[in-house]
Amino acid sequence: MLRNKLLPSFLLSLLAPALAEANVNIRKLYQFPNDVFHDIENIAIRSNGHLLLNAITEPVVYTLDPRAATPTATPLHQFDGATGLAGITEVSPDVFALVVGNYSVHELKGIQGSFGIWKLDLTSGTPVVSKITSIPEGQPLNGMTTASENVVLVADSPVGIVYSVNINTGAYQVAIQDTQFQPPPGSPFPLGVNGIHRRDGTLYFTNSGLNTFGKLPITAQGTAAGVISIIASAPANNFYDDFALDAGGNPWITLHPHALEIVRLPSGSHSIALNSTEVVHPTSCIFGNSCDTKRTLYVVTAGEETESHIISGQVFAITV
Ligand SMILES: *[C@@H]1O[C@H](CO)[C@@H](O)[C@H](O)[C@H]1NC(C)=O
Ligand SMILES: *[C@@H]1O[C@H](CO)[C@@H](O)[C@H](O)[C@H]1NC(C)=O
Repeated sequence: MLRNKLLPSFLLSLLAPALAEANVNIRKLYQFPNDVFHDIENIAIRSNGHLLLNAITEPVVYTLDPRAATPTATPLHQFDGATGLAGITEVSPDVFALVVGNYSVHELKGIQGSFGIWKLDLTSGTPVVSKITSIPEGQPLNGMTTASENVVLVADSPVGIVYSVNINTGAYQVAIQDTQFQPPPGSPFPLGVNGIHRRDGTLYFTNSGLNTFGKLPITAQGTAAGVISIIASAPANNFYDDFALDAGGNPWITLHPHALEIVRLPSGSHSIALNSTEVVHPTSCIFGNSCDTKRTLYVVTAGEETESHIISGQVFAITV
């Protein structure tokens, strides 16, 4: 999700142009307009298969029907008093929790005191939005997942901790603290734990600063129930962002600047599933939720903004 705009452009100059790999089928569903920079940081999927797209460059949740003849992102809800959105997770059918706050995208920072967790209820057809809690200590809050019926987890990337939030009472606390969640000491790239996703009693995570992918057994309250194991590391000159677990529980990880890596569990063997310059800074992904889309991975991108050009975020459908 949140990513460093400076490091990738520095890395880009070191990389030869990437080539598309032919083992997956990739289709661009939509590209946000390039008049102003739209950086799409996170994605969720509704019961009806429509995508929810969180922009970090504006406080807007967009919606897009990936099966429309000409898929188009339209604003679903705009939050007041904030500049962007990050993690989003479904807490019950068509009810989502998400991070709202003030991000300084180019400096990789968040404004402390600006972050809150909100609920977006889409069960009635029109969005009903309510604040769950502020987390004033939060630095850029980033990836989110659902731990159990009432508890969501949210990653604080620069601090390297995971908060648990009770979505009914708004009570929150530091649930997990571990050096494997922290950015490397003295890193010019101060992002630790980034994407987090729970399946059954296991929390999977990426650490973008250490460039690791790992897992941790957790309780229904989101606290550690064991120790962290590191499963994979990103290739040199690339870095891990968010990921999605497929039906078999294997993570598909977005890899800056242009790739997607699959990790096969439990062995941890990993390979590049896609590497294409057409995909500009993939940030997050999610699998389709119907019979005909469960092998379709929807990928969103940050795009890039430099002094000379803007490439806004994109939405791809990749058949795996
Ligand atoms: C993507 O392709 C480019 C060009 O072949 C290569 O330099 C780069 O290392 C590849 N990236 C990954 C993650 O394999
Ligand atoms: C966050 O940004 C909004 C919109 O620019 C502004 O009104 C608000 O004061 C900011 N909050 C903080 C804590 O900086």
